[in-house]
Formats: sequence, structure tokens, C-alpha cells
Amino acid sequence: MKYVNKKWSISILVIGLTVLLAACGTSGSGAADGKLVVATDATYAPMEYMDEDGNIVGIDIDIVNAIAEAAGFEVEYKNYGWEPLFSAVDSGEVDFAVSSITITEERKETYDFSDPYFVANQVILVPGDADIEKFEDLVGKKVSVQINTTGHEVVKGLLGNTNPDILPLETMPLAISELVNGNADAAVGDNSVVLEYVKNNPDVDFKTIDDDSFEKEYYGLMVKKGNSEVLKKLNEGIQKIKEDGTLKEITGMDIE
Ligand code: ARG
Repeated sequence: MKYVNKKWSISILVIGLTVLLAACGTSGSGAADGKLVVATDATYAPMEYMDEDGNIVGIDIDIVNAIAEAAGFEVEYKNYGWEPLFSAVDSGEVDFAVSSITITEERKETYDFSDPYFVANQVILVPGDADIEKFEDLVGKKVSVQINTTGHEVVKGLLGNTNPDILPLETMPLAISELVNGNADAAVGDNSVVLEYVKNNPDVDFKTIDDDSFEKEYYGLMVKKGNSEVLKKLNEGIQKIKEDGTLKEITGMDIE
């Protein structure tokens, strides 16, 4: 009798542990209630930004909400800021990041990316009367960028990695402020955000310049390298919202 009891308690213990382990397994990096925690840099209107009530909103957020709904998971957004979001993904503090992040070969060495969900390109912002018509005209000019973005990379490519004429700022709005203040002659950044700035500031006389040398950039959701569990869910959601037209409804663009 005693023996049977012991056997039963061990079985119950084993079942209990299994359930516990399974629960931990699905919650990934820390949201005990099964929500996926998402890092972003909410200074990037219209893609990701804070509304008047302090909610994180934007096109990227709409897209991730649609992905989550399609793939059947919940999300919680945290505003980490641009550079910190990379280490938050790397350390597993968050499950993934959405932040208009361009999928690049270099980043792919350290992170894994979902399928692409958005196409963008760099654009140059200059005062309306500037004698700048194309990218090469930025040689010898002061150019502000958001630090460690693809905009920063293309400008380094033209002016040289350590050129002091490059002004790397923590956020894109700060990079544009440098231009408004006259500290920079031009700012370079993603088209969606630069064009939104121009639209929202009709009183400021600025022009934007596209250059053929700027390649198409594809945004992806970024996960810790090897986190195939989260990546699978994200791609499943992306696939679904591509197929049912939701993604196109949100972005207005066709993307394969
Ligand atoms: N697409 C650019 C990159 O990946 C800029 C993204 C910046 N995003 C942001 N939320 N600040 O480098």
C-alpha cells in the first residue's frame, strides 16, 4: 500500500513538472502569461510612435497586431529605443523586435529575420534652396542620420566610416532637428519617415531627393538567432496576412 502511494506521488510529481516545463517553454523570454514581448523604437512616425495617450502605435504595430491575430498569439510592446532593442533581442529579454528594421546581410550574422513585410528606400532631406541634387553632392557636406541605421551605412559608404561630417543621432527626429537647426546640410533616412516629416511640417521649406544608388530595403521582424519557435509563428502570421490581403490593406503595397 505504502509502495503504491509512493509510486502515485512520483507520477503526479512527474506530470506536474512536465506541465510546468511545457508552460515555460511556450512563454519564451519572460511573459509568463504567454504573450510575446516586442521591443520597438517608438520615435519613428508613421511606422512606430507614441500617440498622445502614450500608446505605442503605427503601421508596424498594425502589421504585428494583424500577424499576431492571424497566428493566434498575443503581444505586448515595449519602447526600448533603437540601439537598446538589438541587445534586448540578443539577450532574450524580448521575444522579437519590430522597428522598420531592414534585413541586411550584416544583421543576419547576429539575428534571424522573418519574411519581409515592407519595402523602403533611403531618401535625402535638404533645405528647399540647397544646391544638392543627388547623393554625390553630399561630399563635403554635413549629413545627419540615425545612428547604426541603414541610412548611416549608406552615408558612411559615400563619406567614409570615420568622417566627422557624419552626425549620427540617437533618433531620426533628432537627426532631422540637426538639419532644421542648421547644424547639418542634409539628413538621410527611410522614405516613410522622412516623407511623413515633410507632410507634417508644411511650413518648413524642405525638399526630398531619391537617388538611383539607393537600393530597395526590406523590413523584417527580428528574433534572437536560433529562435525558430518564435520565427515560425511570425512567418505563419505574415504568410496568412499576405494571402488574405490584410497586409496590403495596411501598407498599400504589394510585397512578395
Ligand atoms: N530601416 C532602417 C534600418 O533598419 C532604419 C530603421 C529605424 N527604425 C526606428 N524605429 N528607428 O536601419
